[in-house]
Amino acid sequence: MSLAKTQATLETLRNETLAKVAAVTDLNSLNQIRVEILGKKGPITEVLRGMKDLSAEDRPKVGSFANVIRDEITAAIEARKTDLEADALNEALAKETLDVTLPGAQVKQGTRHILTQTMEEIEDIFVGMGYQVVEGFEVESDHYNFERMNLPKNHPARDMQDTFYISDEILIRTHTSPVQARTMEKHDFSKGALRMISPGKVFRRDTDDATHSHQFHQIEGLVVDKNITMGDLKGTLEVVMKKMFGADRKIRLRPSYFPFTEPSVETDVSCFKCGGAGCNVCKYTGWIEILGAGMVHPDVLQMSGIDPEVYSGFAFGLGPDRVAMLRYGVNDIRYFYQNDLRFLEQFKGE
Ligand code: PHE
Repeated sequence: MSLAKTQATLETLRNETLAKVAAVTDLNSLNQIRVEILGKKGPITEVLRGMKDLSAEDRPKVGSFANVIRDEITAAIEARKTDLEADALNEALAKETLDVTLPGAQVKQGTRHILTQTMEEIEDIFVGMGYQVVEGFEVESDHYNFERMNLPKNHPARDMQDTFYISDEILIRTHTSPVQARTMEKHDFSKGALRMISPGKVFRRDTDDATHSHQFHQIEGLVVDKNITMGDLKGTLEVVMKKMFGADRKIRLRPSYFPFTEPSVETDVSCFKCGGAGCNVCKYTGWIEILGAGMVHPDVLQMSGIDPEVYSGFAFGLGPDRVAMLRYGVNDIRYFYQNDLRFLEQFKGE
């Protein structure tokens, strides 16, 4: 092929290619053109390969002309590529417009259960008085739940606390009192007095009604040391009741019976709603029964390896479900366990 003819071929190729590049509307087709024209099997490579047939004089001329053509085509392809990419981006942006002024999807925030809130509040009061918080077992043995609490097999007071048995010896606990025995037997008095509370779930074979549930909560309390008296019990309960129900509250102790305390008392607090005058909350008595308590029975101390001649203590059991019902005017304990958001959402806490 002559020099002039080769140059003419390359020029035609360039003009055709530039026209194709200008007409192309997508990146894929553009790439195809690049491969077809500039690739190893393309016309430019072919021209360069055919140079061996040219005279030594023409060879560099064809070579540099071919390079110029190739550079022009390459530049045109690159420029078109940049344009097409920009178009694609603009199109995507136009399609994906967000209206940032639309209101966002509200994330629903939960809240701790009102019973959890109530229990934590009571825990805080006791922790502030130097009590440790001890966790017990919801599945307990007959031994700790009853026998160590001075309720031997066939003791009539077991009737009030019938429960669900896993086997003859294993049950779900009827009260948090077994934690007393478990804590006492481990306590090292050389490190100071034993002061503990233990909150948690308890279970009884109760018929569920507005004031009874087969599952409810207790907070056990226990103090053991030398010279602990009924005065300590009364003073402690009075401070706690004032913190829970208001500084004007009074308490009243009435004789009662628990196998694991002697003497035993029922503790009433003066009504926080009417101040004692009588209203629907206190059933027109001025007093609200709030917890059971007493001096730890010497046999209970003895069974836990503590000498009742040297040590004495008091214990109490408080029902946070009842505390929450009284405080918030909840008239059915079952609301606490139905997980109805309309109920739970009313107690957002802080
Ligand atoms: N365990 C008792 C109950 O469930 C409550 C209680 C605890 C009473 C500690 C006295 C002392 O009824």
